[in-house]
Amino acid sequence: MSYKPVSTRYDSMEYRRCGRSGLLLPAVSLGLWHNFGGVDTLENCRSILRLALDSGITHFDLANNYGPPPGSAEENFGRILKQDFHGYRDQLIISTKAGYYMWPGPYGEWGSKKYLVSSLDQSLQRMGLDYVDIFYHHRPDPNTPLEETMAALDLIVRQGKALYVGISNYRAEEAAKALQILKQLGTPCLIHQPKYSMFERWVEEGLLDLLEKEGVGCIPFSPLAQGLLTNKYLKGIPSDSRAAKPTGFLQESAVTEQTVGKIKRLNELAIKREQTLAQMALAWILKDKRVTSVLIGVSKPEQVTDSLQCFRNTWFSPEELQTIEDILR
Ligand SMILES: NC(=O)c1ccc[n+]([C@@H]2O[C@H](COP(=O)([O-])OP(=O)(O)OC[C@H]3O[C@@H](n4cnc5c(N)ncnc54)[C@H](OP(=O)(O)O)[C@@H]3O)[C@@H](O)[C@H]2O)c1
Repeated sequence: MSYKPVSTRYDSMEYRRCGRSGLLLPAVSLGLWHNFGGVDTLENCRSILRLALDSGITHFDLANNYGPPPGSAEENFGRILKQDFHGYRDQLIISTKAGYYMWPGPYGEWGSKKYLVSSLDQSLQRMGLDYVDIFYHHRPDPNTPLEETMAALDLIVRQGKALYVGISNYRAEEAAKALQILKQLGTPCLIHQPKYSMFERWVEEGLLDLLEKEGVGCIPFSPLAQGLLTNKYLKGIPSDSRAAKPTGFLQESAVTEQTVGKIKRLNELAIKREQTLAQMALAWILKDKRVTSVLIGVSKPEQVTDSLQCFRNTWFSPEELQTIEDILR
């Protein structure tokens, strides 16, 4: 059946300015790293994407290697874009990335101009797009001059294949250099995509301050620590969870007694706040106005519905914040 997004979809979402750019992003964006590949069910992907769009999520994040197999998430997304979201391209912010291993030989990963330009061409073809809104360098490359990688990003924008560029997984010091080079080239960095959650706090040691000072947006990934910061692992490892799936990046070994102990205590606090743990974990990141958007993943539509309720309460009392610090210590 043909699909038409609901007309009220922008009413319930908060849109935040991305750094000092002209672009607004939804406070919650959807990533297609897991659950959108060739091994997954296309109808589930479709239901999630439709619900996300109907809920005001305008930003969808991909990468060349998302699947499995690598590339298949872009292919599935391209299929659904064409079949369902046809006519809505101008209402969507689509990003992709290159940096991790994609094809054999010396030009299939890292940060050379050769790799980045070829990879984006392949991504555009897989998604059936003329351009992406944001193209990222996915991880720093210790062996390619940063000037070459940043010049490739600048070139891609000048060629019209991306409107904006970003960097991902760059530590504060490397990020500062990259931002400087991009500024000099005349293609300012729009956004940084770091890993950030209650369980992963390195961005607080300089990166968030740098991004604020430079007017660059921030879109934390894995805000739920791949599902650990939800009520799912309280009583063991469910068979349909990421930790149990052979294709999941979260290892069973990450679900330790110590971690589950922390999750239980966080869950008790979430219940007191009348939230699910997922909602509280997202709200905890969104309380920081330097964060433009949190980049979530989901395996089913119900998780979109649940997680978006985080907006009901993004305020934390000083006592609640201290309780969280005590639990995480
Ligand atoms: N730049 C990078 O290097 C990089 C790296 C990783 C990710 N990313 C981006 O960030 C996106 C999000 O990463 P992520 O998938 O790890 O994020 P996440 O939000 O931390 O974890 C997603 C998982 O949490 C569980 N979940 C989500 N909502 C839930 C809810 N309301 N209740 C219970 N469980 C819930 C689901 O697990 P189950 O599957 O077990 O149901 C889901 O697959 C990716 O898709 C990708 O776009 C970027």
